[in-house]
Amino acid sequence: MENAEKIAKAMGSAPRCPLKLMDETDSTNLRLKEWVREGRIQAPYLLIASSQTAGRGRLGRSFLSPPGTGLYMSVLLRPESGWTPGQVTILAAVSVCLAIEEMTGLQPKIKWVNDLFLRGKKICGILAEMAGDQVIVGVGLNLQTPPGGFPADLSIAGALDCEIDRLTLAGKIAARLLEGAKHPGDPDILSAYRQRMFLMGREIQYLENGTQKNARVTGVDEDGGLMIRDGDEDKILRTGEVTLGSYSFSDLE
Ligand code: BTN
Repeated sequence: MENAEKIAKAMGSAPRCPLKLMDETDSTNLRLKEWVREGRIQAPYLLIASSQTAGRGRLGRSFLSPPGTGLYMSVLLRPESGWTPGQVTILAAVSVCLAIEEMTGLQPKIKWVNDLFLRGKKICGILAEMAGDQVIVGVGLNLQTPPGGFPADLSIAGALDCEIDRLTLAGKIAARLLEGAKHPGDPDILSAYRQRMFLMGREIQYLENGTQKNARVTGVDEDGGLMIRDGDEDKILRTGEVTLGSYSFSDLE
C-alpha cells in the first residue's frame, strides 16, 4: 500500500487532511510554522519526517531525531472556538497514549505536562506551539532504541521497542487530534489524562521565583494546570517543569 493511502486508511472517518512525508527536515514544527507564515498551508495539515536535524523540545531543549527508529510528526489544527492551550496539551498526550494502546496494548503513563513514559523511561515528547490562531502539535516518539543505545546524557530516554507500523500509528494519532479539536475541553479526554497521569498523589519539586519547593500533586484542572498542595496552600502550576526528587523513575511500569 502506498504511504499516503496507508495513513488515510489509519485515519478512518477523521476529517480529511493534506499531508506531506519528508525523509529529513530541520524540525517538523518549524516547517509548519514557516509554511503558515508564508500562507502556504492552513489547518488541517500533517507533516511526517523520517528524521530531523534540529528537532525541538520544550523549554528550549533539542529533541534527538535519528532516522529509522522514531516517529516525528506535526499536526496543524484549528480547534473549535473557546479552547485553551492547556486543553490542546491534554488532548495531545491522550491522543498519543490511546493510539499506542490501540495498536500495541502497551500503556504509557503521562508525566505532566505531556511527556509519555513506559517502563520508567521517556518514550515521547510533545511540543504544542501557536501559529497565529492555529496550533501546531509536534510529536516525537521513540519507536525503537537506536543501535548502540541512546546517548549517555539521555539516560531518561526509552522506546516502545515493539513491532509497530510507523505511518499507521501516525495516522491514528492525527485522527484523534483532528477529532478532538472539534470538542475542546471534552471531559472524557480530561478523565483519560487523569487516569494515565503518574504524578498523582506524589511528592514533587517545583521552582517558584528561582527557589526549589516541595509539594504534593492533587490533580489536573480543566486547563491542564497541575494542582498541588504546598504546606497548607493549594496552588496551580501552569507551566515549567516538576521533578520527582528522590523518586526513582525505574519504579514506573
Ligand atoms: C519535549 O520532549 O520537550 C518535546 C519534544 C517534541 C519533539 C517533536 S518531534 C516532532 C516535532 N518537531 C519538533 O521539532 N519537535 C516536535
